[in-house]
Amino acid sequence: MANLFRLPVLLPFLLLATAAVVVTGDELRTFIVHVQPRENQEFETAEYRTAWYKTFLPEDGRLLHAYHHVASGFAARLSQRELDVVSAMPGFVSAVPDQRYRLLTTHTPQFLGLNVQQGVRNYTSDRGAGVIVALLDTGIFPDHPSFSGDGMPPPPAKWKGRCDFNGSSCNNKLIGARDFITDAAASAANSNDSRAPPVDNVGHGTHTASTAAGAIVPGAQVLGQAMGVAAGMAPRAHIAMYKVCDEVGCAGSDILAGIDAAVGDGCDIISMSLGGPSMPFHQDPIAIGTLGAIEKGVFVSMAGGNSGPDAGSLSNEAPWMLTVAASTMDRSIRATVRLGNGLYFRGQSLYQPENLGSVFYPLVYAGASGKPSAALCANGSLDGLDVRGKIVLCDLGYGGGWISKGAVVQSAGGVGMILVNQFLEGYDTMAAAHVLPASHVDYAAGSAIKSYINSTTNATAQIVFPGTKLGTSPAPSIVFFSSRGPNAQDPGILKPDVTGPGMNVLAAWPFQVGPPSATPVPGPTFNIISGTSMSTPHLSGIAAFIKSNHPDWSPAAIKSAIMTTADIDDRSGNPLLDEQRSPASFFATGAGHVNPEKATNPGLVYDIDPSDYVGYLCGMYTSQEVSVVARRPVNCSTIPAIPSSQLNYPSISVSVPSNTTQPVVVRRTVKNVGEVPSSYYAAVDMPETVVGVSVYPSRLDFTEANQENVFLVLVWPKQNGTRVVQAAFRWVSETHTVRSPISVTFT
Ligand SMILES: *[C@@H]1O[C@H](CO)[C@@H](O)[C@H](O)[C@H]1NC(C)=O
Ligand SMILES: *[C@@H]1O[C@H](CO)[C@@H](O)[C@H](O)[C@H]1NC(C)=O
Ligand SMILES: *[C@@H]1O[C@H](CO)[C@@H](O)[C@H](O)[C@H]1NC(C)=O
Ligand SMILES: *[C@@H]1O[C@H](CO)[C@@H](O)[C@H](O)[C@H]1NC(C)=O
Ligand SMILES: *[C@@H]1O[C@H](CO)[C@@H](O)[C@H](O)[C@H]1NC(C)=O
Ligand SMILES: *[C@@H]1O[C@H](CO)[C@@H](O)[C@H](O)[C@H]1NC(C)=O
Ligand SMILES: *[C@@H]1O[C@H](CO)[C@@H](O)[C@H](O)[C@H]1NC(C)=O
Ligand SMILES: *[C@@H]1O[C@H](CO)[C@@H](O)[C@H](O)[C@H]1NC(C)=O
Ligand SMILES: *[C@@H]1O[C@H](CO)[C@@H](O)[C@H](O)[C@H]1NC(C)=O
Repeated sequence: MANLFRLPVLLPFLLLATAAVVVTGDELRTFIVHVQPRENQEFETAEYRTAWYKTFLPEDGRLLHAYHHVASGFAARLSQRELDVVSAMPGFVSAVPDQRYRLLTTHTPQFLGLNVQQGVRNYTSDRGAGVIVALLDTGIFPDHPSFSGDGMPPPPAKWKGRCDFNGSSCNNKLIGARDFITDAAASAANSNDSRAPPVDNVGHGTHTASTAAGAIVPGAQVLGQAMGVAAGMAPRAHIAMYKVCDEVGCAGSDILAGIDAAVGDGCDIISMSLGGPSMPFHQDPIAIGTLGAIEKGVFVSMAGGNSGPDAGSLSNEAPWMLTVAASTMDRSIRATVRLGNGLYFRGQSLYQPENLGSVFYPLVYAGASGKPSAALCANGSLDGLDVRGKIVLCDLGYGGGWISKGAVVQSAGGVGMILVNQFLEGYDTMAAAHVLPASHVDYAAGSAIKSYINSTTNATAQIVFPGTKLGTSPAPSIVFFSSRGPNAQDPGILKPDVTGPGMNVLAAWPFQVGPPSATPVPGPTFNIISGTSMSTPHLSGIAAFIKSNHPDWSPAAIKSAIMTTADIDDRSGNPLLDEQRSPASFFATGAGHVNPEKATNPGLVYDIDPSDYVGYLCGMYTSQEVSVVARRPVNCSTIPAIPSSQLNYPSISVSVPSNTTQPVVVRRTVKNVGEVPSSYYAAVDMPETVVGVSVYPSRLDFTEANQENVFLVLVWPKQNGTRVVQAAFRWVSETHTVRSPISVTFT
């Protein structure tokens, strides 16, 4: 559970915490119940289907959600005894208890190579035109200029959704807004009123929505920092908000209802900055609902989780989703620590007060008292220690959020705080809205500052605030919290898929929510927060403008375009690094860092027909389990199972027995979406000599648009040993490079 605590206020990835469930026979609990109609039973309208669902229930009032598009079933309040009765009824397939979920840009367009003219309101880009992006989140603050309908065309005719805000809050930018929170345990204001407007009392949903498809807003800043033009990745796309989470958390049954509605309403992209522990797909309402969405042509972008850097810490691992990691950008909001001995260290703080002056203050490490809680500046831990008028060094970690550590120091009379990374956070620092002069420094700087404190009886320091700096390096680099592979549900699919900006991201914020310590600055409110919650809507918006350019591409083709064109080097031309400044593995980066311009024109794509996922699932699960995910009766003995390595994925993950020299053979199909005619040559990148990789044939010729070619990738061990090896192959033409990572695990 450590990751729950490792994510203080600034990392609002919505973490699914499995609630402890007390089962007594008569207590009502929420279940997601999967049912299947008889073979010839069809429902002309949603009302008829809902009426059929109700026949399973002891009384109408128990139904919470009826699913129509992406699940065959419903959510209802039932006692265990009643569930036993339901389970015996014809048509019943399975039931899972609902899970209680817990709450766990100005610069990014330019950083990603997208041309945003600074200071220009009338922005002529049509990135995302005609595309509807659904966000399943904490609601939205509709009156923010990031959701202005100025200059936006009406939504496409296929839009069938609705807006539950009153008055003119919705417009051609924010076209839909609904609240799906039904559970009585959720906030009182929203319980039992599905028509309540989806007001954002958290900030998370407003932030993610504006990152994906917010309008162009000049003069964006937070506490005077990171000044610039805020713009979503797809500023022409339409936004539909489906509120499924609030400050208490989110329920799986509500999330599934949100997916169901987004698909039914005609959305093109679903963006979900939430997740939970890894679980088998047939028990995971998000995996089930998103497969339904993909079958209807809806692209799904999901956060990989904030449980890094531990291996195997990913969420949302199904192959039909885009699983997004988080990385830094080249912006730092600097707060420099100067020591009495002349050394200085660069940290970050969003709160940039007038300089403390040239005065050096006494510097103390409360942890030197031997009290572990004091090292962390936990609430109450500084009582009885003399920190008045001093700068206090605090370790990150348990003991409250980062901003509250500052409040503890301040209330104990401290004048400043140096927040120090533990080893695992490495070189990553956050620009937080601290309540007092502060600097968040990396682990190495923290160790040096501690040594200095140890070396003298008279340690002194000052913190100076140089403000926002661009062009910092290394950037991008993988952030410590970004969850890592391998994929626990299926090691045969390499996850995460791709990384995007998720550290210190500026985007819209409801003025009534914060930011915490600010003296309000006139104008719209923005905030800077971090998480895979922030990288995910970047990818959703990028998917929206790819979809806008290529309306006929499938979700798998869009995902392939994003993955095969991703950057594997940082802005200095070095391999992508992680939080320790070590080269990041594929289990951290996936295919690499998104390159939006290249992704719109990839040359070749690896497409997947949604029906292939059923064969894929048959390779993993029983027919009954596959039927739940596929929402229809599936007999796996009658369809060919597709081993995961043979799914037409844009990356490859294979296990190779180390005691043989037999190659593992992986088959792939690429479709030409580029120039005609064109020829591609295979190139293999194999930094290690422990495996052999070859591609056959080594040349592919395309004479028609959308022509497909099949090829084989052979992987064989060259020497013994149990380990993971990372390689890649590329299809290279005169104009394109189509790259696929290969992860090889020796068994
Ligand atoms: C935006 O600029 C374009 C071209 O410069 C112009 O035609 C259009 O009228 C402008 N739109 C608005 C709303 O000012
Ligand atoms: C609109 O909604 C807000 C809050 O949801 C409410 O305070 C206000 O009274 C409503 N206005 C109208 C005209 O219904
Ligand atoms: C919802 O509200 C209605 C009337 O306001 C009430 O009759 C019903 O029992 C409520 N349902 C739940 C599940 O609380
Ligand atoms: C510390 O705890 C006290 C008493 O529980 C509370 O009033 C105060 O707000 C807390 N301070 C912080 C910074 O959390
Ligand atoms: C500081 O000194 C203490 C006790 O002498 C020692 O335990 C600790 O490791 C030292 N810390 C550093 C950072 O040198
Ligand atoms: C402590 O340090 C300050 C500034 O670095 C210096 O002016 C002062 O003389 C020092 N005091 C002692 C006792 O070393
Ligand atoms: C599945 O198909 C196999 C082969 O056709 C058949 O023997 C089996 O009875 C089927 N199972 C079910 C549950 O229909
Ligand atoms: C490789 O090792 C596995 C497991 O130890 C064994 O089952 C298999 O027969 C071995 N294969 C060869 C070719 O030695
Ligand atoms: C691996 O080791 C086994 C036994 O030590 C040997 O028989 C086999 O040839 C080796 N395989 C390779 C690929 O070197």
